[in-house]
This record gives sequence, structure tokens and C-alpha cells, in this order.
Amino acid sequence: MSRAEQTARWIARPGPFLFNAHREFGEVFTIRIGTEPPWAVLAHPDAVREVFTGDAAALHAGKANLILLPFLGSSSVLLLDGPTHLRQRKLMLPPFHGKRMAGYEDDVRRIAREHVAGWPRDGALKLAPRLQAITLDVVLRVIFGVREHDAALGELRARLERMMAGVMGGPSLLALLALGPRRTDELGVYRPILRPVDKLLLQQIAARRADPGDDVLSLLLAARDEDGRPMSDRELRDELVTLLVAGHETTATALAWTVERLIRTEGGWDRLRAGGEEYAEAAGKEALRLRPVLPVVLRHLQRDMTIAGHDLPAGTVVAPCISLVHRRPEIYPEPARFRPERFLGPEPQGGTYTWIPFGGGVRRCIGAAFAIMELKIILAEMAAALELAPARPEMEPTARRTITLVPARGAEVLVS
Ligand code: HEM
Repeated sequence: MSRAEQTARWIARPGPFLFNAHREFGEVFTIRIGTEPPWAVLAHPDAVREVFTGDAAALHAGKANLILLPFLGSSSVLLLDGPTHLRQRKLMLPPFHGKRMAGYEDDVRRIAREHVAGWPRDGALKLAPRLQAITLDVVLRVIFGVREHDAALGELRARLERMMAGVMGGPSLLALLALGPRRTDELGVYRPILRPVDKLLLQQIAARRADPGDDVLSLLLAARDEDGRPMSDRELRDELVTLLVAGHETTATALAWTVERLIRTEGGWDRLRAGGEEYAEAAGKEALRLRPVLPVVLRHLQRDMTIAGHDLPAGTVVAPCISLVHRRPEIYPEPARFRPERFLGPEPQGGTYTWIPFGGGVRRCIGAAFAIMELKIILAEMAAALELAPARPEMEPTARRTITLVPARGAEVLVS
């Protein structure tokens, strides 16, 4: 298949493209997309383990995210590799530790409850934008620590929405693709959007420094690296935008898929209503298995390496394939079925290298526990308040939104 045809299929229908290639070519196969170096796609958990536990100095992830440079800034943990990445990551991990999550639950519950109470109760409703509004408010409150009475809250929310629209599409994205991220950054293509955002974020940083709370930003302000140095304002700004871009739409998309699958599963919504937060968490995990928000993670080889028995030259991209690992029948019997019960019970399915919606190793998603907490609380709030049914019986196909895979009709539901 030509490079052009592979690119077209990867963009239009990544799921079937990957499933067919796996069937035809086996556990390791090469695909060629756009102007990218060849990608060696890995479908077996043992190969995925080799990558996630492999030499981080030889397996760079930052390059794959370079397109986001103009928004995130050069200190973003998503863009760094090697020792500078590890320094930044270590500074950022403590606020996201599993045991801190309980402390954020009340805020998330209150935000979800307020939003859900305001949703229209008659007729069809597209959930995706509503869920994004919830997860954006969660970022503002719990991560940035913006106080409810802060006069800047409304403007900050509007400016960030505008910035996210720029990240996710529109004419400026074409400029970015044409010029490349470094030129776009130098030319300041996004400066009109970013300057007011930066000003508001620097105000929030100053406010938390003067009067810390229990939010993530306050903890980041207190963090010190091995030499006892705190993050600079510039670094804090870049990491706040990184947390927003990495965490806001991804979580809303996972929520949208969970609802899309639950309401098309016999008795699914009723079991959610009866099962409380435990079932809500299992349903979110099963949705992340069956409809992962990101189909692959990427690592650029810095030197020749042997992976899964294949000799790969420096410059190759290896792509642990989330979509394919999650469909293995020997791990997940009847893999195409949506069955939250897989993630309940004494020996739930889903292990370190067999359930990988958040990637792995030294690049594993920093917000994984945070996202699961949000899924659990927001779903349980929706279940308590709403009766949902599909607006149309047919399942929603998968559509691409830049790099994420979303329900094509935006998770359309009938609310009562
Ligand atoms: C369901 C929601 C989410 C999904 C599916 C998701 C998925 C991912 C994936 C696949 C990666 C790359 C991992 C790798 O390359 O091995 C990643 C990285 C990252 N995620 Fe998430 N994520 C989600 C939510 C969040 C949230 C809520 C936050 C923060 C508030 C967040 C922050 C990050 C950061 C900072 C990184 C970069 C880590 C690094 O490079 O060291 N994510 N995420």
C-alpha cells in the first residue's frame, strides 16, 4: 500500500487500518504516515514492556509532541527528553500521586453536580461539549486553583477555550503544519491568542504564591528539584498549559465514550445507577480499553535497537499500539464486547502492559489517577441525576480530532 494511501487510512479510519494490518502482518509491522519516519507498530504486551522499560535515553517521546511547541512552550514536560524531562517530571508528580486524589473529589463532585443540574432535560443533547465544560472547570479549580469569586475566572475560561480551539483545529493549525512548530513559534503566529492567556496565568501564579491553597499549582510552587531549586514562572506557565492541553479534552472524551458504550449495552445505565462509584470507575476503565482516546504512543529511536527480536535502525519510531493490545482475546475474552465487569471482582483484568490507555514507563501519563478519579465522580453524578438513552440506536463511529479518537456524533443522548 502506498504511503499516501496509508496516510489517508490512518487519518480517516485508524481502527480498521490497524486491525487489518495486524491480521495480515502479525505482531510487529511497519506503517508509513505523512512525512514521518517509518513507525514499527507493536501489538504484543511483551514488546510493549520492552519499550516501556527500555533505555529512556534511546527512546525519545518529546519529539513526537513537538507540534504543540507554540502552545506549550519549551519547558513543557511533554516536549522534553532525557535529564531535563526527568527533572520536570519529578517536580510534577507529587500532586498527582494516587493518595492525593481523595482530596480533590469534593470539588469535582460539586462542579459536576452544578453543570449536570443546568443541562436541558428534554430531547437530544450532544454531551461532548458539556463534558468538556465540566473538565475545564475542574482544571481551573483543582489544578490552577482559581477561586470561585475570582473576577478573572470568566475571562480565563473564555481565553483558554479559544486557545484549545486553536490547538484542536482551525486555520492557524494549517499555518502550524505548513511552517513547522519552530518557525510558527518564532514568528509568533499564536501570540494574539497566547499573550492574554499568559498574562492571566502569571497573575494566578502570583496569587497562589502569595496565598497558597490545596490545589496542584500551589504544590508545584512549593516543589524543589534535587539542587533545591523551584520552577521559574516561565516553567510553571508551560506546565499549567501542558496539564490543560493533556488533561482536559482527553478526559472529556473518555467520559463521552463511556456514556456512548453504556447506553448501548443492555441494562448498562441501570447497572451504573445501582453500582455507585465502584461501577462507574470500572465502566470508565472498560471504555478506555475498548475506545482508547489515543491509539498509539510513540518513541523515536536515538540509536539502533533490537525490539521484539527485530533490529531497528536509529531514526525509526516505535509505536506501542494501545488499540491492538486492548483487543487481544487471550487477555480480554470477547474483546469487542463492552463489559465493565472485567474491571470488578477479585482478579480484575487489565495489567501494567496489557491495559495501557495512559502509556507507560517514564512517560506514563502523569494525570492517570486524576483522570480515573474524574471519570468515577462525574459518571456517578450523571447516573444519580439523569436517565440517558441513545438519540439513535446505531453506535457512534470513531472520528479523529487532531490526534485523539472521539465519538463522531459527540455522544448524542436523549435525556430524561
Ligand atoms: C482519560 C484521560 C487521559 C488519557 C487517555 C491520557 C493519556 C495519555 C497518554 C497516552 C500519554 C503518553 C504516555 C506515553 O507516551 O507513554 C499521556 C501523557 C501525559 N498526560 Fe495524560 N491522559 C489523560 C488525562 C490526563 C490528565 C487529566 C492530565 C493532567 C491533569 C494528563 C497529563 C499528562 C502529562 C503531563 C503527560 C506527559 C507525561 C510525560 O511526558 O512524562 N493526562 N497521557
